[in-house]
Amino acid sequence: MNKYYHIVTYGCQMNVHESEKIAGILADLGYKSCGSVNSADIVVFNTCCIRENAENHAFGNIGMLKKLKSEKKDMIIAVGGCLPQQMGKAENLHDKFPFVDIIFGTHNLHKLKEYIISKSCTKKPVIHIEDDSGIICEGENPCRTSYPNAWVNITYGCNNFCSYCIVPYVRGRERSRKSENIISEVKGLVAEGYKEITLLGQNVNSYGNGSDEISFAELLRKISAIEGDFRLRFMTSHPKDFSEELAEAIASCDKICKCVHLPVQSGSDRILKAMNRKYTVADYIKKIEILHKYVPDCAVTTDLIVGFPGETEEDFQSTLELVKKVDYSSAFTFVYSRREGTVAAKMAEQIPEEISKNRIMRLVSLVNGLTRKHSCSYVGKTVEILCEGYDEKKDMYLGRDTYGRMGYFKCAENAIGKFINLKVTSANGISLIGEKV
Ligand code: SAH
Ligand code: SF4
Ligand code: F3S
Repeated sequence: MNKYYHIVTYGCQMNVHESEKIAGILADLGYKSCGSVNSADIVVFNTCCIRENAENHAFGNIGMLKKLKSEKKDMIIAVGGCLPQQMGKAENLHDKFPFVDIIFGTHNLHKLKEYIISKSCTKKPVIHIEDDSGIICEGENPCRTSYPNAWVNITYGCNNFCSYCIVPYVRGRERSRKSENIISEVKGLVAEGYKEITLLGQNVNSYGNGSDEISFAELLRKISAIEGDFRLRFMTSHPKDFSEELAEAIASCDKICKCVHLPVQSGSDRILKAMNRKYTVADYIKKIEILHKYVPDCAVTTDLIVGFPGETEEDFQSTLELVKKVDYSSAFTFVYSRREGTVAAKMAEQIPEEISKNRIMRLVSLVNGLTRKHSCSYVGKTVEILCEGYDEKKDMYLGRDTYGRMGYFKCAENAIGKFINLKVTSANGISLIGEKV
């Protein structure tokens, strides 16, 4: 009899890739993918807790399965990822949703097969959270869902402890995969026909720290030297670890996309210090100058937080100034969210919601203006994009150029996985519209 799985994923690319690993485990158990919770025999929620709304979202959607589970008693519901890895949250989840069968964390995803077998045999819930053991799993067999892109982990965990951030608590200490394992995974993916490789880590440019591994720049060079027609991206880089050697590698390797995501978080030195980011605005600008010295046309994107405890209107104005000065190609903007257990959660002067809301509106409007300006500068030009999907609503194919700009176009045949020359005819805020030439 056919058995089906459905995975609901929240959070970052790391989680998207981990869901592919979960899919690999489920496929190994004989499950096939299906598009909805209603027809699934097992539903896995791969959760995120970076901000309160991510957590609430997951809680809400898990809760909605209560009725379905009461009608389909044999259906297995599993909840994994960052949310249950937080101190006390697995118990919390179990108390709130006793119908959930399996709860696991970020350090024991590879044991999901065991947990499913155990649940099926004993009918007892399995609640298992492990502490950071520092292990790195190799030989996983993910069911990849992002063709022509393939995600490849290079580091796990984070040692930075930015004062607002929960990630170091739920993902453990930073550890790097062996470069030979990364390189052989990429070689395999290129041979299978993947056209874009994205290297993943919370802080990719500190790759190899504390070990005798090669540097991140050297790793990029080695991967770029792999024969084949593919592009290379990476995320996320921390400004404090952004080196001249890295800028040089981006410039000298054709396969590396000319786009760097360099989260700044704030434009105020006082706030950066309180955030424990370990750089000043001047240090950050210096890094951007080094990058542009080697790669003058490199696009820079960022993450920004408003409403960090103690942020004054003056601090916020400094953020606006910095955004204008760097002239970001695009940016993700967030309202600070208090995360239990972090250093910032205990800081006095948490900022009232209405002030944060007002600041985010002003920041979004500035960022949107810059994004629009960058998009408009494309009109009339021809760019090479890698087609990565098809938008049913728009009835158009879509793909990104080396700078990360999304472009849409019509095409009679399936273009997914192909490099296309796109003549840009118009720009629509964040994305471009054009014709295949
Ligand atoms: N490791 C990456 C990404 C971390 S999470 C990095 O360091 O850049 C992605 C983004 O979420 C962060 O860059 C930050 O802007 C935002 N973020 C993290 N914790 C947050 C919090 N408590 N409230 C609001 N935004 C947060
Ligand atoms: Fe969080 Fe900072 Fe680590 Fe990024 S570098 S994951 S923001 S602690
Ligand atoms: Fe969220 Fe965990 Fe990623 S908290 S952002 S899924 S590392």
